[in-house]
Amino acid sequence: MSDHKIPLAGVIGAPIAHSKSPRLHGHWLRTYGIPGHYVPLHVEPDDLETVLRTLPKMGFRGVNITIPHKVAALEIADQISDRATLIGAANTLTFRADGKIHADNTDGYGFLENLKQGAPGWKPNAGPALVLGAGGAARAVIVALMEAGAADIILTNRTRPKADELRAAFGKKVRVVDWVKAGNAVEEAATVVNTTSLGMVGAPEFRVPLDGLRPGTVVTDIVYAPLRTKLLEAADAAGCITVDGLGMLLHQGVPGFERWFGVRPEVDVNTRAAVLG
Ligand code: ATR
Repeated sequence: MSDHKIPLAGVIGAPIAHSKSPRLHGHWLRTYGIPGHYVPLHVEPDDLETVLRTLPKMGFRGVNITIPHKVAALEIADQISDRATLIGAANTLTFRADGKIHADNTDGYGFLENLKQGAPGWKPNAGPALVLGAGGAARAVIVALMEAGAADIILTNRTRPKADELRAAFGKKVRVVDWVKAGNAVEEAATVVNTTSLGMVGAPEFRVPLDGLRPGTVVTDIVYAPLRTKLLEAADAAGCITVDGLGMLLHQGVPGFERWFGVRPEVDVNTRAAVLG
């Protein structure tokens, strides 16, 4: 890495214009008086490796990686954390002094920290944890739940073979139920996590039957636009403890910011306000 005085970092994706990460890191840079910059970088898949090998020479200390580069970034990296290996994707790269690229995945960490902050009494083994969806976000959530000690994870996905694949990857702590039976699983669950895009602005509505929700169940949604999704509203009405998805985005940024800029940032009401604009 070159010896630039001004620390630089950014987020790489395509498209990238709507990423909230520049606001998040910009807020932290201002809060801690760090004279650095964090920029959105639109990079096409064919250019990813060239860009990643060039950025350290320009003073970049690392980058966040988002859609569609999370798997490719892992393949390009020289060193990979255990959790990135388990999740099979990278969202946080750090450029080492010797030029090597270190890949990590902080999505699961962000999920768990958000859950702990929003539902302080949450216990991983109070009962089964239901995970809706089997995409990249579900992988991160399952890894995090297992790390936290959850021993019974019910997984359900519209396309069942994708859930079966995760079961094969993560073992017997995960059991798969059919998507049409998701409503029954809701009844059984002590924790409910939506990792699908259902309920997001522009996506279809969340239609899983929720009559089984019980008071005290911890319900969280990774969708944060809107902030109060139909799932969270129904859960509130049923007396559940609800945690919105914005906090996952905020917390996943913490480890990268600390590595690149040398300060471990707080996630608080000001962070939320800054990102919501
Ligand atoms: P991410 O990396 O954010 O998890 P993804 O890999 O595209 O994104 O996964 C999206 C998830 O939302 C998947 O579980 C997907 O289900 P399928 O595997 O059946 O595609 C789920 N999803 C998207 N649209 C859905 C819909 N209309 N009904 C049910 N599930 C849906």
